[in-house]
Amino acid sequence: MQNKLKYACIGAGGIADKKHLNEYSKLNAVEITAICDCDIEAAKRLAEKYKIPHVYTDYKAMLAEQRLDLVSICTPNFLHAEICIDALEAGVNVHCEKPLALNAEEVLNIIEEKNKSGKKLMVALNNRFTNEAAHIYELIEKDFFGEIYHAKCGWKRNSGIPGIGRWFTDKKLSGGGPLIDLGVHFLDLALYFMQFPRAVSVYAATYSAFGRDADRIRVGYKSIKDGVFNVEDTAVGFIRLENDATIDFDFSWASNIEKEQKYVELLGTKGGLSFVNGEIKLYSQIGNACYTLTPDTKTIPLAQNECRHFVECIISNKEPSASVEQAYELMKIIDSAYDSASKKKEVRLTSKMQFGKYGQRILAQSY
Ligand SMILES: NC(=O)c1ccc[n+]([C@@H]2O[C@H](COP(=O)([O-])OP(=O)(O)OC[C@H]3O[C@@H](n4cnc5c(N)ncnc54)[C@H](O)[C@@H]3O)[C@@H](O)[C@H]2O)c1
Repeated sequence: MQNKLKYACIGAGGIADKKHLNEYSKLNAVEITAICDCDIEAAKRLAEKYKIPHVYTDYKAMLAEQRLDLVSICTPNFLHAEICIDALEAGVNVHCEKPLALNAEEVLNIIEEKNKSGKKLMVALNNRFTNEAAHIYELIEKDFFGEIYHAKCGWKRNSGIPGIGRWFTDKKLSGGGPLIDLGVHFLDLALYFMQFPRAVSVYAATYSAFGRDADRIRVGYKSIKDGVFNVEDTAVGFIRLENDATIDFDFSWASNIEKEQKYVELLGTKGGLSFVNGEIKLYSQIGNACYTLTPDTKTIPLAQNECRHFVECIISNKEPSASVEQAYELMKIIDSAYDSASKKKEVRLTSKMQFGKYGQRILAQSY
C-alpha cells in the first residue's frame, strides 16, 4: 500500500477547523502530522481536537523540520502568497484558502513558483464542489443551456460583517470587503459555468453604508473596539467577456434586504438557470410553451469532496479544479473592479499575461 500523505495545516482558525482538518482527518490516504498558528493556544486547541502530534508557531520551522507532502493555508489573506511560495519552494503541495492572494500580481508570483516546483496547488473554491454545482456543470457539458450569453451572480447578506476591526475589514490584510471575500466564490462559479472566458472590461461601484454599524455584524463574529474598517460593505458591477457574454454581480456583507441570498443565474440560447441558495430551477421552451423544471433533489448524485479531490490529484498526478491560472483571471477582474470603483469609470483589462515554460511573464496583445 502507498505511504500516507503527510499533511499539515497553517492557520488554526474557523475554516481550518470547520473544513480542512474536519475533511482531511476523514481521508485514509492522509496522515495529519502538524499544525501551525502564531497563536499557540489556537494551534493547541485544534491539535488536541484532531490528535495532531506536532504543534508550531512558525510555519517556516514546520516546513523545514517536517517532510510534508501537503499543506492547507488557512491564514488571513495577506499571508497567502508568501506562505504558498515558501511551501512550494519546500516541495510541498498546497491547498490554499480563497482568495489565493491579495491581487493578480501576487498570483503571478505564485504561478512562477508553482511552475518551478512542479507541485500542485488548488484554491479552496468549495462552492464548485456542492452536489448542485456539480449537477449544473453536468448540464453544461450536456449542452442544456446552449450558448450562455449572460450571467448574474451575487452573495448578499442583510447582517453579515465578519467583525469590525479584525483582519477582514483592513484592506491591507484582506485585500477588500465582500467583493474579494464573497465575490471570489460566486464570480468563480459563474465563470466556471461559462467555461472561464477572459474578461475585457469591468464597470463597478463600491459602497460603505454600514461600515461601523455594530448591529450588522455576522452572528458568531466579534469586533475590536476602534479597529480599522476601510473596506467596502457592498460592491456591484458589470463585466464584459471576450466572447461578448456579460456578467452582472452584487456582493454585500450588509444591506437592507429580506434575507441572505447566494445565487448564479444563467441565460443561454437553449435554457436558463436560477441557482438561488442551493435550489436549482431550469427554464426552457418545450413545444410552444415555456417550462420551469425543478430536479428531484434526492436524485442529484453526491459530488466529489474538495479535499478528497485534491488528494486524488496529487496521487494520480492530475491538475485540480480551481487552478492558479483561473485564480489569476478572477483576481484580474477583482483588481479591475476596485480600480473602476475608485475611478468611477469602466476599466479595460489592457493586457493579458501568458505563461512561458517556467511561468515567466509575457505581455500579450492589448485588448
Ligand atoms: N472557503 C470558505 O468558504 C471560507 C470561509 C471562511 C474563511 N475562508 C478563508 O480562510 C482564511 C482564514 O479565515 P478564517 O475565517 O479561518 O480566519 P480566522 O481569523 O478564524 O483564522 C486565521 C488564523 O490564522 C492565524 N494566523 C495569522 N497569522 C499567522 C501566521 N503568520 N502563521 C500561522 N498562523 C497565522 C490566526 O492566528 C488565526 O488563528 C481566509 O483567507 C478566509 O478568506 C474561506
